[in-house]
Amino acid sequence: MREYRVGIVGAGGAVGQEMIRVLEKSPLPVAELRLFATERSAGRRLRFRGQEYVIETTDPERFAGLDFALFSAGGGPSRQLAPEAVKRGVVVIDNSSAWRMEPNVPLVVPEVNGAVLSEKGAYAEAKLIANPNCSTIQMVMVLKPIHDAARIKRVVVSTYQAVSGSGHKAVVELEEQTKAYVEGREAENQVYPHQIAFNVLPHIDKFDETGYTAEEWKMIRETQKILDDETIQVTATTVRVPVYRGHSESINIETDKKLTPGEAKKVLAEAPGVVLLDDPPVNLYPMPITAAGRDEVFVGRIREDFSVANGLNLWVVADNLLKGAATNAVQIAGYMVEKNLL
Ligand SMILES: NC(=O)c1ccc[n+]([C@@H]2O[C@H](COP(=O)([O-])OP(=O)(O)OC[C@H]3O[C@@H](n4cnc5c(N)ncnc54)[C@H](OP(=O)(O)O)[C@@H]3O)[C@@H](O)[C@H]2O)c1
Repeated sequence: MREYRVGIVGAGGAVGQEMIRVLEKSPLPVAELRLFATERSAGRRLRFRGQEYVIETTDPERFAGLDFALFSAGGGPSRQLAPEAVKRGVVVIDNSSAWRMEPNVPLVVPEVNGAVLSEKGAYAEAKLIANPNCSTIQMVMVLKPIHDAARIKRVVVSTYQAVSGSGHKAVVELEEQTKAYVEGREAENQVYPHQIAFNVLPHIDKFDETGYTAEEWKMIRETQKILDDETIQVTATTVRVPVYRGHSESINIETDKKLTPGEAKKVLAEAPGVVLLDDPPVNLYPMPITAAGRDEVFVGRIREDFSVANGLNLWVVADNLLKGAATNAVQIAGYMVEKNLL
């Protein structure tokens, strides 16, 4: 069996660290692993499948010889470095928002639209595949089976997003603010514009002139691209909550055809990568602590929206660092290996 030479760019970060762990557990045959970050992490030693690897600084010349690279270093570095990797014959699977809406870059959740990778011309031209936004990934995992069953007309989503979604620094900030608060000291904030411990911020990424944030526009536009249907109307409010790991979403869906909660549960229970946890009388519903460390997307609280003709409400939770980032990226690589696309 062919073995692959793999790079991870951003290997010292919140997602990069998970990429190493997810790749280690995956069946992907890895002949060589190269880890890249900035001088901050360079020299750090990490174990992968029993061998020790050292994080290097990211010099594009060092990409030569890799088969594919998982990028998770942010939009700016990706804009600069991904073309350098592609130029050297490396297929890039990028976790930032830099390339997602480029027309020739496939935006992929394998269970939902993996088939676009096989379409002639799609990724063949760009050699770059984009991993969607974490909140979008978990939402489309449940929208797709419902869309196939009843055609979705409109989605209203409100998110409750964990601080690890803002990277390692935000995790440390929540921890330090919590300690300061409990000890009666003033809590300092650097990552967020306000204190996040014991607070909720209706603000993720930058605001634009419409009053929406970039995160909200990502959920709208990426959903339409992944489901390949611009007629689906989506509106979003994205909110940061003081949770370490696991994004939650309250999703209201209007469909063309009537889908009862029972029918929706059946469709979702059969959806690949989705776990139905829905038994309110015994307090069974997904929570961030349910999803943390798990690769699947969890759904519950499925009920009829009685305010419209064909409406459903549901609650979706997933680990933002896993299915929202690292797991999805490694699954894209796995899909491409399986389909002989690499
Ligand atoms: N966190 C999530 O839940 C999540 C989910 C989906 C997508 N994403 C996206 O994934 C990306 C990474 O997020 P994160 O949360 O892992 O951030 P993070 O914890 O801040 O880690 C960023 C990593 O990128 C490296 N890096 C920064 N600039 C670089 C450069 N110029 N060249 C090479 N490496 C560079 C950093 O190096 P050092 O280690 O040396 O500092 C670090 O290893 C972002 O685009 C983010 O939007 C994150």
